Amino acid sequence: MEGSGSLQERLFRTKTIPEMMEYHRGEHTLKKVLGPLELIFFGVGAIIGTGIFVITGVAAAKYAGPALALSFVISGTACLFAALCYAEFAAMVPVAGSAYTYSYASLGEIWAWIIGWDLILEYSVSIAVVAIGWSGYMASFLRNAGVALPAALANPPGVSGGVVNIPAILIIALITILLISGVRQSARVNSIIVAIKISVVIFFIFIGVSYIDPSNWTPFVPFGWTGVVTGAAIVFFAYIGFDAVSTAAEEVRNPGRDLPIGILGSLFICTILYIVVCLVLTGIVPYTLLSTAAPVAFALEHIGITWGAVIISVGAVLGITSVMLVLLFGQSRIFFAMSRDGLLPRTFSAIHPVLGTPVRVTILVGLVTALLAGLLPLESMAELVNIGTLAAFIIVSAGIIALRKTTPDAKRPFRCPLVPLIPALAIIFCAYLILALPTITHLRFVVWLVIGLVIYFIYGARRTQNALSTARQ
Ligand code: ALA
Repeated sequence: MEGSGSLQERLFRTKTIPEMMEYHRGEHTLKKVLGPLELIFFGVGAIIGTGIFVITGVAAAKYAGPALALSFVISGTACLFAALCYAEFAAMVPVAGSAYTYSYASLGEIWAWIIGWDLILEYSVSIAVVAIGWSGYMASFLRNAGVALPAALANPPGVSGGVVNIPAILIIALITILLISGVRQSARVNSIIVAIKISVVIFFIFIGVSYIDPSNWTPFVPFGWTGVVTGAAIVFFAYIGFDAVSTAAEEVRNPGRDLPIGILGSLFICTILYIVVCLVLTGIVPYTLLSTAAPVAFALEHIGITWGAVIISVGAVLGITSVMLVLLFGQSRIFFAMSRDGLLPRTFSAIHPVLGTPVRVTILVGLVTALLAGLLPLESMAELVNIGTLAAFIIVSAGIIALRKTTPDAKRPFRCPLVPLIPALAIIFCAYLILALPTITHLRFVVWLVIGLVIYFIYGARRTQNALSTARQ
């Protein structure tokens, strides 16, 4: 690590890339088992979920109208710029930790902590948000099958007489067990789920396309440009996840080639599918009717294809499951990297000798997210997840510009084109989307960051300093 004297030096000390690559050796390194196809599937696994199956409804009905496809184009463009930056970083620094690791390499420890803290919003909070959505779908399935769950066991305290959300806790527990059992097994289960959910999305497109009534597209922009941009900031949630591919960096066989393929490939596939789904969705149902919890299934019901709606619901439940799988994987790898650096207790970077997975940190993430999902009414927190992720994208993009200046000669197996233009565009687009989010979300985010900084100064800065001194002795 560079610099360890004054407070200022400590806050902005960076880890060099060779220092980080040391992690590829030694006892705290993860098993390398993933290839390019599994990475694309990882990305799609994390991307397609609540965003397209749930959030699109409200986004169309309240903000974007039929121009929802345009909202997806705007959000997708922001993600494309950010993804090019992630691809460069992931190929250059293929160690676990993603944006946290990249900011440690480019901007310094304090930024790394802020990002690590911020990523808890992107990962842990979204796992809880998604698990609650999953539980809602499951409860309605069981109800249709004649098994009504008592409200007390399917809701958090304070919501519809709830005590604890048991289905949300159970699904997180199952996923945690799968992740502990091995990365290869988890990747296999994920690939099967992804194959099914892509088929379901394509099924919707094929069935829906012949029912499109172009009159549903007029007026195309009923809430004006502001509506389209607010819609973009909200449906941004649907894109979250391509960056999770980079958290697997250390478990990839040929990271320089495969990580960019995984990140950009998964984003590309989902962007195309999303835009087409939006056009079909708003083409077959008047946008004013879409404000429902399951808009895609509802659209098929609306045109009288009830059996098709059932297929969509199954695909949605499965799809949402793989989102949780990959995000839980991602969060555990970020905490793993933070623990290895001393920013979290070191015990969490232990790797199980037989399974080759970071068992303790995976259980920690499982426990925390299960408690969040089981006991808190978090379903309205998707916007907080968005702002956290957008902030991470901004810092990663700034990091690319910084590292091209400070370390111009480092080996870059993948180069983001047109630097600094593309990272600058990523920053501008993401900042624009942040501004389009509601003020309450901005306030919540600031509170979250302040809490993170307080913890850093009380705990994190001291720990890394101790770790540093021990290393020097
Ligand atoms: N992109 C993920 C979803 O839409 C988080 O569920």
